[in-house]
Order: sequence, then structure tokens, then C-alpha cells
Amino acid sequence: MSSTVGVNETTTGKGEGSVDLKKRRFLIAATSALGAAGAAALAVPFITSMSPSERAKAAGAPVEVNVSKIEPGALLRVEWRGKPVWVVHRTKEMLDALESLEPLLRDPNSDNKDQQPDYARNRYRSIKPEYSILVGICTHLGCSPTYRPEVAPADLGPEWKGGYYCPCHGSRYDMAGRVYKNVPAPTNLKVPPHMYLSETVVLIGRDEEAV
Ligand code: FES
Repeated sequence: MSSTVGVNETTTGKGEGSVDLKKRRFLIAATSALGAAGAAALAVPFITSMSPSERAKAAGAPVEVNVSKIEPGALLRVEWRGKPVWVVHRTKEMLDALESLEPLLRDPNSDNKDQQPDYARNRYRSIKPEYSILVGICTHLGCSPTYRPEVAPADLGPEWKGGYYCPCHGSRYDMAGRVYKNVPAPTNLKVPPHMYLSETVVLIGRDEEAV
């Protein structure tokens, strides 16, 4: 069983007020907690009509996402097994910046094998470079980091080239979810198991090894 998820929440990051959206061409819908809540509310009658074993299966089921709906630079938030999962359509500029950041990172080569499947042990930490799929939970104490795709914002400094910032204790991750040195978080963000069912549809929560 898998559940198909549409675009239930997209965002360009916290700094919508400070980011020049036109310039960066983040032509997406603004972050909408209401949209996420609406999607969740729709799901409730469906879930509650199931038997307990069906409910358990649905809660752990992989989630299908059509990545073609995500604008370049945007983040789509979905839920898998009760966790937030981010699907980000990275731009060429975002991908190009990854290499230059590596001296600043704790585990740039994804040597810690627990944090991603083998097929995501590369610079992009993904199957397709343009699409990043990450569990949106800080590896320090479990807060949810904020998407900060803008380059060199005043509060994050001139070396910032986009990524994720955890407001709880200041951990920083790059656009591949790789953690910076000298922050509390010990490891990179987790990449969940996933596989592409077609050019544009990815299944999150299952991969070819588990099929
Ligand atoms: S929980 Fe993210 S930095 Fe502590």
C-alpha cells in the first residue's frame, strides 16, 4: 500500500519577507500551514474508517510524490511515518555551491552510513541531483530546521549558500543536508529510503532493496 501525496505544503524558506522571490524565481505558493492542515483533515475520515491493522499499514505506508509539481528552489513537505520529509527541487546554483562548502562540513562524503542509503552516498545525497529528499528532523535534539535557501542573508553570514538552519541551538546544514562543523548536531540529516517509479514520481519509504 502506498499513499499518493500532492503538493500539500511548499515553501521558499523562512525569509519570504527578505528574499527577492522574483529575482530568485522561486515561483511557488507561499508556505501554508492551512494547506497542510487541510490535507491532514481530509485524511482523517479515510484513516478512521479503516480497521486497526489497515490503519497501522496506512500510517507506515510509503508515500508517492510527483516531483514535477515542485518549482525550482521550492521545498515540498510531506509526512512519512509521522515524520516531516522534505523534497526540494534544487537549482543549478544550489548544486554548484555544494563542492565549495565541503571544507566547512563535518561529513561531506557521507561516511556515516546510518544517515542515508548507499545510493545517496554522493555529493548531492540523492539519486537525481536536482531532487533532494531529507527527513526534516535536526540530528541534535530533534527540532525541525528552517529552510533557508537564500545566499548570504544578514543573520547567517556571507559564507551561507543556502541550506537548513535549526533555530533551537544553531545547527546548520547545507542544501544536501550535510552538517557544518562546530555546531551541536553530530551528523548529516537523514535521507529516507526512496526510489523513482517513473521520471517524475518518487516513492518515499521504500527502495529497490526492500521491494
Ligand atoms: S535540535 Fe537542532 S540544534 Fe539542537
